[in-house]
Amino acid sequence: MGNLVFKKKNIVIGVTGGIACYKVLDLIKGLGNLGANVHVIMTEAATHLVDAKDFEKASGNEVQVNLFHPKVNYVEYIKKNKPIRHISLADVADLFLVCPATANVIGKIANGIADDLLTTSITATIAPVLICPAMNVKMWKNPIVQENVKKLKKLNYHFVEPEYGELACGYRGFGRLANLKKILERMELLLKQRSDFKGKKVLVTAGATIEEIDPVRVITNKSSGKMGVNIAEQAFLRGADVFLLRGHSSVEPNYNIEEEKFSSVADLQDKIKRNLKNFEIVVHSAAVSDFEVNNKKNRKIKSGQELHLELAPTTKIFENIKKIKKDVFLVGFKAEHNIPEKNLIDSAYYILKKANADLVVANDVGKRQRGFDVDTNEVFVVDKNKEVQHIGLADKRVVADRILDIVARKTK
Ligand SMILES: Cc1cc2nc3c(=O)[nH]c(=O)nc-3n(C[C@H](O)[C@H](O)[C@H](O)COP(=O)(O)O)c2cc1C
Repeated sequence: MGNLVFKKKNIVIGVTGGIACYKVLDLIKGLGNLGANVHVIMTEAATHLVDAKDFEKASGNEVQVNLFHPKVNYVEYIKKNKPIRHISLADVADLFLVCPATANVIGKIANGIADDLLTTSITATIAPVLICPAMNVKMWKNPIVQENVKKLKKLNYHFVEPEYGELACGYRGFGRLANLKKILERMELLLKQRSDFKGKKVLVTAGATIEEIDPVRVITNKSSGKMGVNIAEQAFLRGADVFLLRGHSSVEPNYNIEEEKFSSVADLQDKIKRNLKNFEIVVHSAAVSDFEVNNKKNRKIKSGQELHLELAPTTKIFENIKKIKKDVFLVGFKAEHNIPEKNLIDSAYYILKKANADLVVANDVGKRQRGFDVDTNEVFVVDKNKEVQHIGLADKRVVADRILDIVARKTK
């Protein structure tokens, strides 16, 4: 990654009282090596877990813990127009990181509580705030914690969600601090956030369609919706007016993104048709069923008997989009399974031509760590001239951002 983005940037890191707080020392050292200026605020609880001196050594700056200085007469101090610590830290930040973030600090931020240096500084900052929760699995699953996270996401706070694995408390589950590389990647994206999509209206489709066999059984596919949701989120952060049409998916969008759910192919087609006139860019990443059930039943089919499904091909939504609105910039996706790179690109170009699309993003879901229901992807972006741009294996959010770089260049 082009890490020049960190050079001379002021990163304020709030370290809270989670067992993972020692891990942040490595992150701080890494940021220092990349040329960032790191200012650490520790909560009082964090000082019980790691010595503030370790953070001082790692960051090269004095660690701040207290909102009030015990020896300062604030009446005199303010008269002299001297800087107040929480305001200067809030103002200096290019990016505010809370890592690890306890259930407690998440609750405080979500409820506007500002009762120590960290939470007061966060309340006062206009810098992007990136929160990296880490806690026991039961704490993470606690509905109050989840409600607070949801609220903060809608208020455009950024999150790197905790991962699944062994937890320090002896449990196994979600709650481990995310991988530091993932946190660093996300920081980089936030620092280089442009507003090059400002005023652009982008329609994104994501997730899987569902075709009913009977009222309880369905045909669907393995799409998680992650790629499309990440595209919607990154476009939103880059200033676009985003509308997300989301089918069956394992993720929900962060941020205050307008969305509508869809179920079947016909439903998605109908929703695209109804909305298309308002959009100039369409990123169609939904995994659309190629078949629908002809002999669908209105009542639950009895088990214990042979059943023959009659499948009919569905309408090709991707091919219909330009027919409905000619001047839309159309991006599609092509997933293939375990085929040579050349065939993958040929296959992407073929559907591009058929749909008269502008770009097709191709990936091989048969390869490890690519495609369905994983957090990473590797793609080839094919354009109308069959020029190909390769985006190497990276987090889907990074891939989404690079795809948008290409869209931005082509829609300038
Ligand atoms: C040894 C120890 C480890 C802890 N680890 C965590 C943790 O990983 N995540 C968490 O949310 N709380 C953890 N806690 C609880 C928090 O420290 C406690 O909620 C505290 O009030 C947090 O304060 P702060 O958010 O101001 O730092 C831990 C407590 C102890 C004693």
